[in-house]
Amino acid sequence: MNDGHSLAPESRPAMTAARPLRADGESREAVPDIRPTVTTRFAVNGRFHAVEHDVRVTLLDLLRERLGLTGTKKGCDHGQCGACTVHVNGEAVLSCLTLAASLEDVVVTTIEGVGSPEKLHPMQQAFIDHDALQCGYCTPGQIMAAIACVRDGGARDASSVREWMSGTLCRCAAYPQIASAVLDAAGKMVD
Ligand code: FES
Ligand code: FES
Repeated sequence: MNDGHSLAPESRPAMTAARPLRADGESREAVPDIRPTVTTRFAVNGRFHAVEHDVRVTLLDLLRERLGLTGTKKGCDHGQCGACTVHVNGEAVLSCLTLAASLEDVVVTTIEGVGSPEKLHPMQQAFIDHDALQCGYCTPGQIMAAIACVRDGGARDASSVREWMSGTLCRCAAYPQIASAVLDAAGKMVD
């Protein structure tokens, strides 16, 4: 019985088969590269860089993958752990949430630009002196956040340090030692 919805075979519209891709790829149409790029000029640890990059790249990935500065760590990549903390014009930022394209003419400082093996920054020395790390994965971000904490007036006591640095997580839970290190370094930092 015809229910009024089905079509007799002869009345169906002609169907065309999908054109198969040929092994030699000749039937493929050229796909344009639509990834826009931009060149960002900025200073990192005292060195000028002009880097052409995908407009979507983060500062974290640019530092690690283009400039070879792997001291800055990727923890969550979602702005929730603080492992990627660096300084932009002296202020602590999460590099995983910062688009590199937004950093034209800024000054970036990473853990590689803080102190040197011969002359550690007071915060680096304090982390050693207070045994403020276990695995060390969070430590670069902790130190960058800690320096900003001191500069920002957040190192008045252990409670204020914990409050200021609450977004910088340590899976090894070295928080008491980290707070001690920050307070120790606060009295020795000159900048
Ligand atoms: S990697 Fe940036 S906040 Fe976790
Ligand atoms: S020292 Fe291991 S995560 Fe902080």
